[in-house]
Amino acid sequence: MENFTFYSPTKFVFGKDTEKNCGNLVKEFGGTRVLIHYGGGSAVRSGLIDRVKNSLTANGIYFCELGGVHPNPLDDKVYEGINICRKEQIDFILAVGGGSSIDSAKAIAMGVPYDGDFWDFYSGKSPKAAVPVGTVLTIAAAGSEGSGDSVITKKDGMLKRGAGSELIRPKFSILNPELTTTLPAFQTACGATDIMAHVFERYFTNTQNVETTDRLCEAVLLSMIHETPKVIANPNDYQARANIMWAGMVAHNNIVGVGRDQDWNSHGIEHELSALYDCAHGAGLAVIMPAWMQYVVEHDVMRFAQMATRVWNCKMDFNNPLQTALDGIQAFKNFLKSIGMPLTFAELGAKEEDIPTLVKNFGIGNGETGGFVHLKAKDIENIYRLAL
Ligand code: NZQ
Ligand code: ZN
Repeated sequence: MENFTFYSPTKFVFGKDTEKNCGNLVKEFGGTRVLIHYGGGSAVRSGLIDRVKNSLTANGIYFCELGGVHPNPLDDKVYEGINICRKEQIDFILAVGGGSSIDSAKAIAMGVPYDGDFWDFYSGKSPKAAVPVGTVLTIAAAGSEGSGDSVITKKDGMLKRGAGSELIRPKFSILNPELTTTLPAFQTACGATDIMAHVFERYFTNTQNVETTDRLCEAVLLSMIHETPKVIANPNDYQARANIMWAGMVAHNNIVGVGRDQDWNSHGIEHELSALYDCAHGAGLAVIMPAWMQYVVEHDVMRFAQMATRVWNCKMDFNNPLQTALDGIQAFKNFLKSIGMPLTFAELGAKEEDIPTLVKNFGIGNGETGGFVHLKAKDIENIYRLAL
């Protein structure tokens, strides 16, 4: 295991009706003038935004609002939010929604105190200050409620890029599993796929002697395999929703990834798909991640065989561990199919002729990328082709 520092100071408030605490929580973290930031309308329709406003009003907190965040959030909404925050002297941003609303809120938070273009933070620059952010989560998926990351798409060129800073880790996140019962089955399944992908990005590592985090990863994966079909069958299964919601946080605040190198190529390869086609991130991952696994399996057959036996309950073939590893990848694909995920470019609506554009947008030129297996541009292209 490698040396690490783990510091994850988000306050999580979990359970039924917990959104009613948001006014108290904003106050606790010093907010007096709040921007409520949300998506395309699901949180309005469910009455959640009204409950959030009531809680802020009951605590004497001024607020204004900016809705309309697009899934795969865009830079134009961020600029709009920065202007509102400056004009209204906002000192706290409350994101209500999923990864898209939260990531857009984080981008606004970094942009407000910065003289230059917020996009600098999505091109490698580190912020020096940010407006504090809190969240009310409505979908278990991206894990942004517990992460210091944000992913935004620049409309000019449709480039999807990430930023990371401790300054944008949410001060608090309200996780009420009941809020996720209105999700369509497809969106629930996209979220489940993303959660599992966050674990796999960490699970496939070259670092040795990481048994504790391996086992934590496997526990999250096994829980997802157990709970996801329950909520697809019955969207109102509170206990299953609750387990998935916490799994989504655990999968991405890095507690299952400390002390080891991590890969993250599948995410990078997928981000170009959701940027170009505006597909759901989880659906893109369902197409890319198994293809990536197939492409790199021989880099460490025994690690893939470990996944196959411990996570997918495959029988170990000691004479042919590669077959066991491949059985595990097939089991993952079968699971994704069973929850309604696409597995191919065609099912996703992606096109073979766009592969050169996707590789170009991926933007590694002659370089290499990935913590588990270093890939070059040609490898990225091969993975897109494997996913056809
Ligand atoms: O916009 P509304 O109307 O709210 O509808 C949303 C949206 O259409 C809907 N939805 C959310 N909660 C709902 C609901 N519909 C009914 N009932 C509810 N309770 O679901 C759709 C997807 O929402 P979105 O916020 O886009 O989902 P998700 O949480 O999957 O976020 C995806 C974004 O997060 C990024 C992805 O790349 C993508 O842009 N990621 C962010 C990460 C991070 N910040 O750490 C890490 C991830 O790997 C990921 O890249
Ligand atoms: Zn993800």
